[in-house]
Amino acid sequence: MNNSKTKIFGVIGHPIEHSLSPVMHSAVFKEKKINADYFAFDVDEKNLCNAIHGADALKFCGLNVTIPHKISVLKYINKISEEAKLINAVNTIKFDYVENLIIGYNTDGTGAIKAIEKNLNRGLKGKKIFIFGAGGAARAIIFSALQNNAEISIYNRTTEKAILIGNEIKKRLNKDVKIVENFNLKDELNDSDIIINATSVGMFPNVDKSVISKEYIPEGKVVMDIVYNPIETKFLKLAKQKNCKVIDGVDMLVYQGAESLKIWLNLQVDENLIGIMRKAVVEKLIRN
Ligand code: ATR
Repeated sequence: MNNSKTKIFGVIGHPIEHSLSPVMHSAVFKEKKINADYFAFDVDEKNLCNAIHGADALKFCGLNVTIPHKISVLKYINKISEEAKLINAVNTIKFDYVENLIIGYNTDGTGAIKAIEKNLNRGLKGKKIFIFGAGGAARAIIFSALQNNAEISIYNRTTEKAILIGNEIKKRLNKDVKIVENFNLKDELNDSDIIINATSVGMFPNVDKSVISKEYIPEGKVVMDIVYNPIETKFLKLAKQKNCKVIDGVDMLVYQGAESLKIWLNLQVDENLIGIMRKAVVEKLIRN
């Protein structure tokens, strides 16, 4: 039951009606008997500043930030984590009322890395990761993977965007990434350990699309998709047929949520709790 001590959390975005975060976090609060609640807020760009400062004034504990505000919200943050600075986007805000700070974090990349590590049963050091995409989601995964000393190859429909990320990485981290083009696509895929679709290809309603055709998917790799609707994308279906170990977008979503909970509440999220979060998300996806 809510009372004056209830900790308030939420997600801001636009549109927000299909957000899975409220059911995911509410399941944790219920399981752990934490006096907290989590709401979805539809916030227009013009109201973003008021929304952040309003949440601060109302003593919210934390917010998630989603499309289209992950970059524009940077203007209203007064402290930023190293990772969010590198990714240049914030998906988690913590309101610190002791230091009077609005602190921005990014848990998207870490969430993806944790999901992979759980499935690999080991760290990413020295692993070769092949990423399709050069948008916001790809950026988050690329920078977090580099922080974990993985090797990165990037393929994007628009090669120039991949090159821009590569140049930025060289400048800011002094690391090299491979930019993949059509002529070396197959070789680079064969040479990688983990293949990730970080594009929106295959997302509902375009469920018959895969970022690559079956003959390009090598046998026995670890394959991940950031798309969670449908839970099993065409790309993952094809990867299974090639005996790959697949990680779906729900896992990435759940692990980024778990990272947010660590930041807000110092909560250690074990695999049992991860399972509860996943179940809540899957049930909501099936109901929708
Ligand atoms: P997000 O923040 O979710 O990553 P985004 O920044 O709009 O979204 O990026 C979308 C990514 O999906 C981009 O890499 C985009 O490729 P382009 O840079 O060429 O636009 C990729 N993408 C979207 N639709 C695609 C399609 N039909 N085929 C291939 N790539 C696609």
